[in-house]
Order: sequence, then structure tokens, then C-alpha cells
Amino acid sequence: MKALVVFYSLEGHTKFIASVIAKELKCDLLELQPEKEIPKTGFKKFFWGGKSAIFKEKPSLKNKIPDLEQYDTIFLGTPIWAGTYAPPINTFISDNEIKQKNIAFFACHSGGGAKKCFGRLQDFLKDNNIVGSIDFIDPKSDDEEKKSEIKNWLNDIIMTKLN
Ligand SMILES: Cc1cc2nc3c(=O)[nH]c(=O)nc-3n(C[C@H](O)[C@H](O)[C@H](O)COP(=O)(O)O)c2cc1C
Repeated sequence: MKALVVFYSLEGHTKFIASVIAKELKCDLLELQPEKEIPKTGFKKFFWGGKSAIFKEKPSLKNKIPDLEQYDTIFLGTPIWAGTYAPPINTFISDNEIKQKNIAFFACHSGGGAKKCFGRLQDFLKDNNIVGSIDFIDPKSDDEEKKSEIKNWLNDIIMTKLN
């Protein structure tokens, strides 16, 4: 398996999960960074971020996206914004041809769940093999329990879905 972890994170929660996955799998990590980041605090954060998610915006990214041909498995991580994936993820899945890969989703939210988001991603990425999904409520980076939950999830995917 050659895997890539792709994620966006405004406030660090999704970044924590992404780095645990990449460390565990010893695989490449790609943090999507919009050219213009939204404010990180207060009402403005929810206003601009929420609007951008609701209107399915595709913000330009600073990143140079690697050739995805070299990966057979992608872990795709996002915070939940207005019930769905964050706009930089929309840019990534819209601007790159993602087909015939194993894909697993991970998401962080404040309690609203990730079901709708995962359903939308699954619809968008229908030419792929979806191998798993997991979500967390605002995980803290020193949470050892979360780390072992992620490791168990990865083991389960590797043992049952990728062989
Ligand atoms: C613009 C915006 C919209 C959000 N919408 C939701 C939501 O619909 N449901 C929810 O449970 N949490 C929502 N949240 C909370 C984040 O999903 C949550 O705090 C997440 O852990 C943040 O991940 P991050 O630290 O990787 O950015 C929202 C946060 C922002 C900034």
C-alpha cells in the first residue's frame, strides 16, 4: 500500500488526527492551505467559513499537489463546516482526478456528527473504493485514548479492506 494523508484544518484538531495516521502508516502527509485563510476566531470565523461551505466555494490553494497516480490509498480529513466538508477539500476533490483508489474519511466536529459529510464525499468520489470513516469531537492532541482508537481503526482497514 502507498498511502497519502490529505487534510485541511483551521484550528488543529483534524491536523492532530492526520499526523497520528501519517506517523502510524509512515506515509506522506499533505496539509491543504488556502491562499487566503479565513479569520481563526470569533463570529467572523463562523460567518465566512459557514458561507464558504454552504456556497460550495473552491478556494485557491497554496499547495503544489503531488502526482496522485503514485498512491493507491488516500486518507481524506476535514473539519465539519455547516454540516459538510471544508472548502479546501472541495478544491482538492474537484481539481484532481481521483479514481480507483482506496479512500478513508476522517473528520472533526463539535458534536454535530459527520454522517452527512461522509455521504457527500462518498457520492462525489463514487469511482473509488471507500474503505472506512471515523470522526471525533474536537479531539485534544494529548489524548492517548484517541490515538489508540485511530490505530485500531487503521489496523482494521489494513487487515480487512486493503488485502
Ligand atoms: C465555519 C465553521 C463551521 C462549523 N460547523 C460545524 C457544524 O456544522 N457541526 C459541528 O459539529 N461543528 C462545526 N464546527 C466546529 C468544527 O467542525 C470543529 O471545531 C472541528 O473540530 C474543527 O477542526 P479543526 O481544528 O481541524 O479546524 C464548525 C466550525 C467552523 C469554523
